[in-house]
Amino acid sequence: MNKQFWLSKWATNDIGFHEGVANAMLMKHFNQLCQPSTIFVPLCGKTVDIIWLMKQGVHVIGVELSETAIQQLFHTLKIHPAVTPIEQFKHYKGPLIDIFVGDIFDLTPKQFPRIDAVYDRASMVALPKETRIHYAAHLHRLTNNAKQLLISFEYPEKTLNGPPFSVTESEINTLYDPHYHITHCDKSTMMVNTTPMDQNVFILNPK
Ligand SMILES: C[S@@+](CC[C@H](N)C(=O)[O-])C[C@H]1O[C@@H](n2cnc3c(N)ncnc32)[C@H](O)[C@@H]1O
Repeated sequence: MNKQFWLSKWATNDIGFHEGVANAMLMKHFNQLCQPSTIFVPLCGKTVDIIWLMKQGVHVIGVELSETAIQQLFHTLKIHPAVTPIEQFKHYKGPLIDIFVGDIFDLTPKQFPRIDAVYDRASMVALPKETRIHYAAHLHRLTNNAKQLLISFEYPEKTLNGPPFSVTESEINTLYDPHYHITHCDKSTMMVNTTPMDQNVFILNPK
C-alpha cells in the first residue's frame, strides 16, 4: 500500500475502519497493560480509542500519515495543538497527547519518546504481508520491546482484496515470537459486507 492510497482514503472520507466509539476489546483488556503512563498508538488515524486512553490519564503518542485525520482528532478533542516540524514529521502536541504526522518507517528510536506500552488496532491489516515483517521489527526496535495489546483481523483470504488484509495467528506468532510471549486472549466475529471476520486480541509480553 503506498502512502497515496491512505491519503486519498482520508481525502474522500472513505474510512470504514474508523469506529465511532471506543473499542470494546481495548476497554476489556486494557488492564492487562498494567497501568501504563505513556502508550504508543501506531497508525492511529483519528481513533476514539485515543480519547478513551486519555480519559484514563494515559499520555498518548501516535503516528499517522494523514494530517487530515489528526486535524479532525484534535478538533474532536477540542484541543488547539502546538504544531512543529521535526525532520520528516509534523509534531502535533497537546496535554497528554503527541502525534507524529508522517510515515512510521521514518521514525527513529532516537526521536521516539519513552513509552510503557503499545496499543495496536488494525495496523497489521493495513499493511501488505512483506511490509508487516518490517513493521513488526521496526515496532520492536522503536518501543524497546514494550508490551503490546494487539488487535488484528483474520478472514478467509480469497473473499476480500485488502486492506484490510487477513493476518493469521500463525503469522503473528512468527513475527513476534522472537521477542514476546504471546497470549491470544480474546476473539469476536463481525461481518464486513458479507465476509465473516475474526477480531483477534493478543497480549504481547516481552521475553
Ligand atoms: C486501518 S487504519 C486504522 C486506524 C486506527 N488504528 C483505527 O483503529 O481506527 C490504518 C491507518 O494507518 C495509516 N497509515 C498507513 N500507513 C502508514 C504509515 N506507513 N505510517 C503512518 N500511518 C500509516 C492510514 O492513514 C490509516 O489511518
